Amino acid sequence: MKIDILTLFPEMYNGFKEESIIKRAIEKGIVEVNIIDFRKYSNEPNNKVDDTPYGGGSGMVLMCDPIFRALDDIKTDDSKVIMLTPDGKVYNQSIAYDLSKEKHIILLCGHYEGFDERIRSIVDLEISIGDYVLTGGELASMVVADSVIRLVDGVITKDSHLNDSFNDNLLDYETYTKPSEYRGMKVPDVLLSGDHKKIDEFRQNSRYNRTRDRRPDLLK
Ligand code: ADE
Repeated sequence: MKIDILTLFPEMYNGFKEESIIKRAIEKGIVEVNIIDFRKYSNEPNNKVDDTPYGGGSGMVLMCDPIFRALDDIKTDDSKVIMLTPDGKVYNQSIAYDLSKEKHIILLCGHYEGFDERIRSIVDLEISIGDYVLTGGELASMVVADSVIRLVDGVITKDSHLNDSFNDNLLDYETYTKPSEYRGMKVPDVLLSGDHKKIDEFRQNSRYNRTRDRRPDLLK
């Protein structure tokens, strides 16, 4: 899978690409992540990419031209173009699964007051990562890229995401590690029993009970 991220702030991604699971996925060649500064597609003096809004008002608006020209350059028939914007579809695990099957994802990060509305005409999907406003789409693009990359075949074992929270609309089960007793708090006996049937049952109940107590909306 290839992920191209169009941004005005490429340095924000240094840590993202250079740590842990994402770093290994890139090194193994399972994913390619390109950070593209779309200022380089500007034809304006000083590589300007934004201007004041028609009709007046505060802030600056990202212009069509650098983004159209960037997409002319990098988009292919296999590309899915995604705009990160607070007025997009609210992101969830099911969208992450769908995106993990794509060959090429292009993530468009806005900044300032937003995008010229005409840019939406060349976008396949608009995503919001939640009902709050960030200073730009960069953090949102990292959230999307991270959650998609871990689901791409070969990045982590299938077992590691089979019981993820939100699969089957249930949260993940409770987990413990050594020691079996810590400051008076004991690990449930069943997990020490070695009885895998009982352990599976315990975990299934744990998923259901946690969802009922914390996120009853998911059970509806
Ligand atoms: N850009 C600014 N806020 C955002 C959000 N909540 N989701 C996606 N992109 C954004």
